[in-house]
Amino acid sequence: MKGIVLAGGYGSRLHPITLAVSKQLLPVNDKPLIYYPLSALMLADVRDILIIALPDDIPQLRRLLGDGSHLGISLTYAEQPVPNGLAQAFLTGAEHIGDDSVALVLGDNIFHGNGFYDLLDAHSRDIEGCVLFGYPVTDPERYGVGEVDETGRLLSLAEKPEKPRSNLAITGLYLYDNDVVEIARGIRPSARGELEITDVNRVYLEQDRAKLVTFGRGFAWLDAGTPQSLLQAGQYVQTLEDRQGVRIACLEEVALRMGFIDADACHRLGAKLSRSGYGEYVMAVASEMSP
Ligand code: DAU
Repeated sequence: MKGIVLAGGYGSRLHPITLAVSKQLLPVNDKPLIYYPLSALMLADVRDILIIALPDDIPQLRRLLGDGSHLGISLTYAEQPVPNGLAQAFLTGAEHIGDDSVALVLGDNIFHGNGFYDLLDAHSRDIEGCVLFGYPVTDPERYGVGEVDETGRLLSLAEKPEKPRSNLAITGLYLYDNDVVEIARGIRPSARGELEITDVNRVYLEQDRAKLVTFGRGFAWLDAGTPQSLLQAGQYVQTLEDRQGVRIACLEEVALRMGFIDADACHRLGAKLSRSGYGEYVMAVASEMSP
């Protein structure tokens, strides 16, 4: 399975903070925002990942993450000159996807909770159709919304409906079979002029090939698109990290635990950052897992 991180967009709800820097590079506690969605793809065992961003932001993203080889993954970059919608990712990324399945994650989405790896493991193999992940929220009108019957089967999808039919937001992590490229080619821009991912998902739903998996209580799904949600995400991460002494979305640790790199390589990565608590943590994890 290939991966795409969609890290474009102007971050206009965060202006002036994002006038000169990409939203995905802003800190969420101890690490840049993009670490969180990137770690989600790595946990799904996706190692070939395309990062799509505004042309001006790509040099900085590349400076941060390079070609991914230090993490045992491949990172490539593609430009999205104008944010014309999430579904554009499948057109920009068509060559990268090739004849494979694909996982798309939005660059400002944070997922954290017990059992996340198992859930990804269970749903990312042999994908037929698409897999969407739902999360109950108090403000569904801000999101794509899924309506389900009592058995959890998906009945309808709507993008930011004025009157949501449920409280189930569709999160920014999506798994697709290879048909997604053709389906994305066939949709038209919405009233707000964007190629909406919800329109892609609706095609799968009409074909009865859309599965909805709902994250349970105790799972955290956060987006970091506004000053308030960015701060809340940082506070959430800080609380858990300080209390438990573990780090969320530490890419070096994820790479080690997934078997993408060995403990020596992980230790060397930590040593490069050894003046920070993050670097110390990476070295400690590497030592602990050293054979
Ligand atoms: O966060 C989940 C929600 O994401 C879903 O529930 C919605 O169905 C989906 O449409 C999307 O809604 P948003 O209002 O959050 O979309 P937004 O336009 O803010 O874009 C989300 C992220 O993707 C944001 O970090 C910017 C980036 N982006 C957006 C567009 C439209 C791109 O990289 N390129 C784009 O063309």
